[in-house]
Amino acid sequence: MAICKKLMLLFSPIAKVIHMGKDIVIGGQYGDEGKGKIISYLAIHDKPEVIARGGVGPNAGHEVWYKGQRFGMRMLSCGFVYEGARVLIGAGVSVNPEVFLKEVEMTKTENRIGVDKRCTIITKENIERDSASSNSAKIGTTKTGCGPAVSDRVNRVAKLAAEEPLLAKYITDVPKEVNAAKTALIEGSQGFMLSVLYGTYPYVTSKDTSASSIAADVGLGPKNVDEVIMVIKSYTTRVGAGHLPGEIQREEAEQLKFQEFGTVTGRPRRTSKELHWDDLKLAAMINGATQIALTKLDVKFPTVAGKRNYSDLTGESKSFVENIEKQLGVPVTLIGTGKDAEDIIDRRR
Ligand code: IMP
Ligand code: MG
Repeated sequence: MAICKKLMLLFSPIAKVIHMGKDIVIGGQYGDEGKGKIISYLAIHDKPEVIARGGVGPNAGHEVWYKGQRFGMRMLSCGFVYEGARVLIGAGVSVNPEVFLKEVEMTKTENRIGVDKRCTIITKENIERDSASSNSAKIGTTKTGCGPAVSDRVNRVAKLAAEEPLLAKYITDVPKEVNAAKTALIEGSQGFMLSVLYGTYPYVTSKDTSASSIAADVGLGPKNVDEVIMVIKSYTTRVGAGHLPGEIQREEAEQLKFQEFGTVTGRPRRTSKELHWDDLKLAAMINGATQIALTKLDVKFPTVAGKRNYSDLTGESKSFVENIEKQLGVPVTLIGTGKDAEDIIDRRR
């Protein structure tokens, strides 16, 4: 039996130990894959020198449960839970100064936080425009002003972080910090299917959400990225309008315990029981995924709740994991089995 296990490990695609370098975490579906939990786990266990957020802006809602407390993060990376790291916001992110300052206070990170001087500032007018626009209503945006801020940036009329007095003491050069560090954890936001380039246009967010754009958001060149960890949830959810193959009714989603609510807007998320293989294959290819982090396996298979060893999983749940590896050709290295940051099976070690 022991020999059999050793042989299995030898031939498993993830038998090698993966050391942290400059690693990017992105979403492979419609956002809300559970990036927050994966980021916080990686931050605590891999201890990166810097943790930087890329992506769109405070339209993101990343949830992390830490020491029994829930944090709903919109501007700062969920990696703040590792107290040894600098916590940065990359140039590509649009910043709402009020949301930012509130989160700095809430997380007590004042002495280790930095905002790139080039970030776009979200103004009150941007939020009003997002809230009043009939097109935003059609798409079902988060009304956080992100789209209008990005459009101001494209039109070259946006205000930058360097000009915002409220941010003065936090201004830094994120590309310099990220490139100078030996280890960095980069947090993307939203998901691949919400990319303005590759998603379900026009029902998408205002930027590309793939790993290449996230790297650019924090000033990291494509050859300086080590691992791209694509997070996918064991089923599929989406908030806002746009296609969702295999969508089920809310009653069924509630019965299955799949029903979720938005972190930012509180809206009920739409649910599909399925994983959409064509979309996920495209996501794995365009993101250049080198690892998959699979979340909420315990929601799909309640028997795996709280498990921390792969060998403790049931046959049915293992087949589910192994089918993902087979379909996408990428190893599933991290598996979420509960809401706490520590409820993870880590197959990298
Ligand atoms: P916007 O990004 O607020 O302009 O919204 C555009 C679409 O993306 C809407 O369907 C939103 O619900 C969706 N969206 C934006 N950010 C997120 C996110 O972080 N998670 C899930 N959906 C998001
Ligand atoms: Mg979210």
